[in-house]
Amino acid sequence: MSIIICPYCKSPLSNSKEKTFTCENNHSFDIAKQGYLNLLPVNQKKSKDPGDNQMMIAARRSFLELGFYDPLIESIKTLITDEMSFASKSIIAFDAGCGEGYYSEKALKNLPGLETEVLGTDISKYAVKNAANKYKDNFYFVSSIYNLPIADSSTDLILSVFSPVMEEEFKRILSKQGYVIIVSPAPNHLREIAELIYDSFRPHASSAIEQMTPLFGHHVTKRTTFKIALKSKESVLSLLKMTPYYWSTGIERLENITTKSELSVTCDFTIDVFKLVK
Ligand SMILES: C[S@@+](CC[C@H](N)C(=O)[O-])C[C@H]1O[C@@H](n2cnc3c(N)ncnc32)[C@H](O)[C@@H]1O
Ligand SMILES: [Zn+2]
Repeated sequence: MSIIICPYCKSPLSNSKEKTFTCENNHSFDIAKQGYLNLLPVNQKKSKDPGDNQMMIAARRSFLELGFYDPLIESIKTLITDEMSFASKSIIAFDAGCGEGYYSEKALKNLPGLETEVLGTDISKYAVKNAANKYKDNFYFVSSIYNLPIADSSTDLILSVFSPVMEEEFKRILSKQGYVIIVSPAPNHLREIAELIYDSFRPHASSAIEQMTPLFGHHVTKRTTFKIALKSKESVLSLLKMTPYYWSTGIERLENITTKSELSVTCDFTIDVFKLVK
């Protein structure tokens, strides 16, 4: 994997021995049994176990695999096909804050006329372990988007779905003609869930454009809105567990939702695409 660099000395990492990646300064990183690399230096960990925990990762996987968010996947793919032109048909695509890997697998592969080599990172080792274990053709590693172990100007497409954004690092690793896609919650995202928990609903606001410009030019925005009909207690709970509400709200407040066996919920996403300014 030539675009991966050592998180300590920034020189290229290569898979010189069977189960190990090393750099010219002898920093070495073992490939985990699931096939991923841990490239997060210990001194850059803000806590023992940074990022989403195993329960959150499992909750995301079980909800996403029900397919309810697949209209979002289709919107992302259409944007790539209709709004982007790359220097080559063969591109490197990178999922920044990849979680358990659903979007890197579903949105960045099988794009008409393009061949993608897919990489993904997350600061959570549980996320990366689950992604690598399931999506064997992609390459996943643990790292922070604030210090990416990726060579300058080496990626053609960066995808960030509901994850933290680090515009300077995105700029550094993006190729001249590359694109960044940022998906964030649009005003009415999961409105019905929030209304069942809080007394008043505060629409979501996205800061992607503010944060990314002027380092990047804003290329296009697409809003994708659809309703999903949850028809069992399990699917209601599955969605709830994927939201921050579940992990940060007292159990009594959640009872309004956890007792429901049917719920119609608005999904509302903003997809912003950025390009480097010349
Ligand atoms: C809401 S989840 C989204 C995951 C995935 N993109 C999805 O939509 O399923 C946010 C993710 O960002 C990760 N994360 C948080 N801080 C990070 C950082 N500094 N670097 C990389 N990932 C980070 C979390 O571990 C979590 O997996
Ligand atoms: Zn090194």
